[in-house]
Amino acid sequence: MQQYEITYKETGDKFYCKEDESLLACMRRNNNGPVQIGCFGGGCGRCKVQILEGEYHKFKKMSRAHISEEDEKQGIVLACCIKPRGSITVTTAPN
Ligand code: FES
Repeated sequence: MQQYEITYKETGDKFYCKEDESLLACMRRNNNGPVQIGCFGGGCGRCKVQILEGEYHKFKKMSRAHISEEDEKQGIVLACCIKPRGSITVTTAPN
């Protein structure tokens, strides 16, 4: 199975995410990094991050209460709703 390298911008820490798992599930296996764990369903907004580099696939609807269209254009997403499609650099989402 394909795996992709995930890098936390703040620390430079790297780990690998399988192509069939959400970024949040992968982060949980790797001590969470800059993200909080919540509902895993796209509704609570706790797992908000910003993707700085890399391709990803949005496989679950994100609540507009937490992620605006403008946010999405800037790579601000809910980690429980995306899967990597290549190496990704991720950081804490701006408030
Ligand atoms: S964990 Fe609740 S929206 Fe991602």
